[in-house]
This record gives sequence, C-alpha cells and structure tokens, in this order.
Amino acid sequence: MASPELNVIHNTRLDGLAQPVQVIAVTGGKGGTGKSAVAVNLATALAQAGRRTLLLDGDLGLANVDVLLGLTPRYTLEHVLRGERTLEEVIVQSSAGVRVVPAASGVARMAALSRTEQAGIIQAFTALAEPLEMLIIDTAAGICETVLQFCQSAQQVLVVLRDEPAALTDTYALIKVLSRERGVRQFRVLANMTRERGQGDMLFRRLQRVTDRYLEVALDYVGEIPEDAWLQRAVQSQRAVIELFPSSPAAQAFRNLARVANRWPLALGPSGRLEFFFERMLARPAPRLQVLK
Ligand SMILES: Nc1ncnc2c1ncn2[C@@H]1O[C@H](COP(=O)(O)OP(=O)(O)OP(=O)(O)O)[C@@H](O)[C@H]1O
Ligand SMILES: [Mg+2]
Repeated sequence: MASPELNVIHNTRLDGLAQPVQVIAVTGGKGGTGKSAVAVNLATALAQAGRRTLLLDGDLGLANVDVLLGLTPRYTLEHVLRGERTLEEVIVQSSAGVRVVPAASGVARMAALSRTEQAGIIQAFTALAEPLEMLIIDTAAGICETVLQFCQSAQQVLVVLRDEPAALTDTYALIKVLSRERGVRQFRVLANMTRERGQGDMLFRRLQRVTDRYLEVALDYVGEIPEDAWLQRAVQSQRAVIELFPSSPAAQAFRNLARVANRWPLALGPSGRLEFFFERMLARPAPRLQVLK
C-alpha cells in the first residue's frame, strides 16, 4: 500500500512557485505550554525525515528558538525587511539540519509593513534557492495581533495544550478569537507534558465539549507528548531532544507527531503557495489605516 507520506512528497515535487508549502503555526492559549519545544522538535523530526523545513521564530521572548538550538545568528528578519541582507544570509542551520529564520523585531513589524516591504518579504521567501516543503512558525504567548495573523494565514494551526489550571479557558479564548474574528475553522490539538497515557485525550475531550457547544470549529486531536526530563536536559544542552536523546519518550512522541503532520493535506492551487501565505499574513495589518488611505 502506498504510504500517505510518499503521496504528500510527490504532490510537492512541482515546479518553483507553484509548489504548495505546508505552513504550520504552533500556538497555545497561554505561555509555557511548550510551543517552542514542539516547534523545534517537530521541525527537527520533519527535517530528519527529509522534508525541506524552515522554522520561523515568531516570538521575541526569552526562550527563543535560536537559544533552544544553540544557534548564534548574526542577522535577523529585520535585516531582510531593511533590505540589508538576503533571506539566505539570515537563515541559520541547526546541527540537526533545521533551517531557522531568527526573529527579532522583524516579526513584530510583520503586522504592519509597507507595500514595498510586503513585496520584498514575499519575494525573499519565494526565491529561496531550495524550495520549501514545510514552514513551521513558533508563535508568542498570548493573543496578540502577530499571533493571530500567523494563525489566520497558516494552513494548519497546531494548538499546544497543557493540563494546568485555566488551560481550557485560555485555549478556548484563543480558538474563539481565531474562529470568530479570523475565520479559522480547523484546529489540530496536541497535549503536552502529560503525566500518564490518555491524559491528553481526556483534556482534549473536555475542550471539545465546550467548543462543540459554543463555536463552529472542528478540532482534531493529534496526540500527546509526555513530560520528559530528557527534554529538559536537551534544552540545557541547547539541542533538540529528538537529536540528542532520540529514544527518549518525548523524542518518540515528536516523531509520531511529525508522521501525523506529514499526512495533513496540502492546500493545492494558489492558496497553498507561500506567497499567498504572506499575502494573507500581511494583507490586513490595521484595517483603520486602510480606511484612512
Ligand atoms: N514534554 C515536555 N517535558 C518536559 N518539559 C517540557 C516539555 N515541553 C516543554 N517543557 C519545558 O517547559 C517549559 C516551557 O516550554 P516552552 O518554552 O517550549 O513553552 P512555550 O509555550 O514556548 O513558552 P512561551 O509562552 O514562554 O514561549 C520549558 O522549560 C521546557 O523545557
Ligand atoms: Mg516559546
């Protein structure tokens, strides 16, 4: 039987700009649910599986992707926006082969770029020497404009949920805003730091009961990542757990997640192309400004 992964890979072997890119925004209702850990390890697992993967650090916080991966970038997205560096010059590569776009103030500015900057950034991403297959975005904590824009523009919104007080309320609030204000209808939900098998499923069902009742959204449970001390040790060594401790429980769960993500359908046609991701991302920065123009 043909593997679904192979089908996806075949679908992506198309020419240049016509190639669809799977854009996954990793988000969560609140801080510390493990968004960065998930983004870093999902990207690493996909890269190890041979997918051309780019990880965009969409968070300006302290636990940056470059810190988690032990990278010391010289330039950031801001240099691309200012036209001082090409995207290729800004991208840094982790020891496990993940290409990373470091964040810095460029990410916050993406919410309100000028037309010229918009065109520049779209051109920069679509003209990469190696056409991308997967773009993973690590988003910041909380419901801010940049987070909403990344999520509304991505093909897939991966919500990282953790069993802790107020987790359901915060996650529900995020899903509500994204569905009612940004038209996002489908969410992939991942439980992180679970302490026993099945805990994630229970948490998911509690969330789904509320969303089914009040929102018009489809939630898809994608599994759980156990709480794992090996992951914390990897963080201290500034490497992805999947690279440093590949047989740890967390690493195995991340590889499963990557296999699942590999099977998510690609948006074919124009809406699956990377330039349309950026157009969706950049098209509606500040509606009031557009009215004034
Ligand atoms: N599965 C796990 N097992 C053990 N520790 C974990 C796991 N996932 C995340 N952590 C730890 O939990 C903490 C928060 O993780 P992380 O920084 O990835 O969360 P975040 O959602 O990106 O946070 P922020 O909202 O601040 O960006 C980190 O110390 C991380 O090492
Ligand atoms: Mg983070």
